[in-house]
Amino acid sequence: MKLAASILSADFGRLEEQVREALAGGCDWVHFDVMDGHFVPQITFGVPIVASLRPKFTETFDVHLMVERPEYQVEKFIEAGADLITFHWEATAHPHRLARLIRESERRAGIAVNPGTPVEVLVDLLEEVDVVLVMSVDPGYAGQAFLPRSLSRVRRLKRLIEQAGLPVEIEVDGGINPTNARSVYEAGADILVAASALFNQRLSPRAAAEQLKAALRFGN
Ligand code: DX5
Ligand code: ZN
Repeated sequence: MKLAASILSADFGRLEEQVREALAGGCDWVHFDVMDGHFVPQITFGVPIVASLRPKFTETFDVHLMVERPEYQVEKFIEAGADLITFHWEATAHPHRLARLIRESERRAGIAVNPGTPVEVLVDLLEEVDVVLVMSVDPGYAGQAFLPRSLSRVRRLKRLIEQAGLPVEIEVDGGINPTNARSVYEAGADILVAASALFNQRLSPRAAAEQLKAALRFGN
């Protein structure tokens, strides 16, 4: 089970330090929520943030593109040093072509689905990707409540992956906290993403990551 720290809720004035702390607390990956103001209402950040953190960390850089026409963007993120590039099924007419392009560049390819998209639409794409990201909130903002229906979506997806006999990992993103983390893991998730549970006023990112990792291991 891996934990990905989404920098969306971090203090950007101290970004490197905040990421370092979350990793010290047991986070495995760094998750970058790239938003374009079209696919989702907000604009966040793009290639320069990935490129400037890249030389400072060896951990997996997990780039989640919440953008229209992701095919226009992926090459720049590959150059910037992304290890895994996830785009939305809803955002492109040609997910096969895009997943192949990412893999031909020797990066891992991920495909994401919004809460309203049945996971079954991915059945013919599973062999083209390394990761499926199940959104457990509508994408766009940190700090939203986990949608309980996501648990059955993860179970259904897990079954599809097992039936296909493929080594695809399941990543779950949105509203993850110490109370629900274990149940998401038990539903079949391999990677959990968290922003506001890690970067908030209550605990340091390190303490928050330790708490979330413990909840994952032992439940809450
Ligand atoms: C939502 C993003 C998530 C977000 C999660 O649009 O894709 O990665 O940062 O934030 P929390 O963990 O606060 O729900
Ligand atoms: Zn995300």
